Amino acid sequence: MINEITKQQLIEKAIEARRTSYAPYSNFAVGAALLTNSGKIYTGCNVENASYGAGICAERTAAVKAISEGDTEFMAIAIAGYHIEAPAETRGLAYPCGICRQFLNEFRDKDIKVYVAKGADDYVETTLSELLPQAFGPKDLDQ
Ligand code: THU
Repeated sequence: MINEITKQQLIEKAIEARRTSYAPYSNFAVGAALLTNSGKIYTGCNVENASYGAGICAERTAAVKAISEGDTEFMAIAIAGYHIEAPAETRGLAYPCGICRQFLNEFRDKDIKVYVAKGADDYVETTLSELLPQAFGPKDLDQ
């Protein structure tokens, strides 16, 4: 179970992680904070590249950090993204892209809570199964 304090902490860490976003091409800065079943939090930001397709999203940066530390069961993720030139009042919610949804789906035993945040007190709560219904996952390879 994720209590309110953990949820709030995760959202604040996602916002903080956005500060190191490297997004000189899109100017769209994204931060993510991922909670694993072990109780650890891994943060990530988007990292773009002059060869555009080589860039990586914030969510996958956080996920790869966790996996490479041996933490392969995800519980919750908070995401905070915005165009750095957009005025605060026009900013929307940055939901995880399709590739990130699929990537996260690989590393769960139960569902993953997803918090999409505009600010520390302004966020939407959903789940990976809502964002990626009828997902194709590791078990589907056995049938
Ligand atoms: N981006 C993320 O970091 N996460 C998402 O789920 C959507 C998109 C990044 C990728 C790219 O650096 C920038 O946002 C614009 O697409």
